[in-house]
Order: sequence, then structure tokens, then C-alpha cells
Amino acid sequence: MASVKLTVNGRKVSREVPDNTLLSEFLREELRLTGTHVGCDTSQCGACVVHLNGKAVKSCTTLAAATSGGAVTTIEGLANGGLHPMQQAFNDNHGLQCGFCTPGMIMTGVDMVNRYRAEGRELTEQAIRHELEGNICRCTGYHNIVRSIQDAASRM
Ligand code: FES
Ligand code: FES
Repeated sequence: MASVKLTVNGRKVSREVPDNTLLSEFLREELRLTGTHVGCDTSQCGACVVHLNGKAVKSCTTLAAATSGGAVTTIEGLANGGLHPMQQAFNDNHGLQCGFCTPGMIMTGVDMVNRYRAEGRELTEQAIRHELEGNICRCTGYHNIVRSIQDAASRM
């Protein structure tokens, strides 16, 4: 068993879990934060993306024990007294259909905007499409997802 101590969405949590518990399992099954989705378990779809210490990670291929001491933000923790600008932009630009991929798209989008801004790089449409290569959507054809991230970048 492993002792996992994390700050999740600003709240300190501590659990004893089997050594091989994935971060996605820890969030969904131990903490009941089911906004983090699991679509593949093979690190392809990106539905499980959360932020670990401010950076996007795929929680389905991250061991919970390896993150102990860190800070995790899930889709549930992104809104702060109202929708996050990225969530609002997805809403305004119809950036989702079934919604399964959406938590991962939004967490990836926030990371992308923050990273490009910190590095002083322009987040072009081409860059957004390239950055989304680790996130799969079966419904939208991506066009409105890209528009949503472009819109959010101007609001964040
Ligand atoms: Fe993690 Fe698909 S569930 S990448
Ligand atoms: Fe259905 Fe993306 S909105 S998978």
C-alpha cells in the first residue's frame, strides 16, 4: 500500500491505496471526482487530463503515489465563483457535443494558453491543432474546439 497525500482543488486529502493505483482511479474512485473521464487507458484519448502542479498530465498513466505531495486541479476545481473563461468559451462556441472529451479538452486548453503566454509565443490555430494531438474527440470534428480555445485565449 502507498500513502498518498495531495492537495486536490485546494483541499488536502490523504488516502492509503494500492501501489498501482492510477491518479485517474484515485480521483474518480477515492474522491468521487468523476469529471475526469477515462476513455482508453492507453494514454491516447486525453479525456483524463488534469493539472499536476500547474501542468497538464494524463491521469490514466500517472501513478497516484508518484504525485504525493503535489497539487492537482480537476475540471471540478477550475471554476472559481463562476465558469472559468475556457469553460465559458466552450459553451459560447459550441465546443462540445456529447461532452465526454470536454473535461480533458478544457484542461489541455488552459495549460496550452498558460504555457504559450509564459513563453511569449503566439498560440495560432495551427499551434492549437498541433497541441491537441493528444486529445481525441469523436463528435465535433475539432473545429469548434479550436475556436473555443482561441476565444478563451483572448479572455484569459
Ligand atoms: Fe487517459 Fe485516454 S483515459 S489518455
Ligand atoms: Fe463527444 Fe468530444 S464531444 S467525444
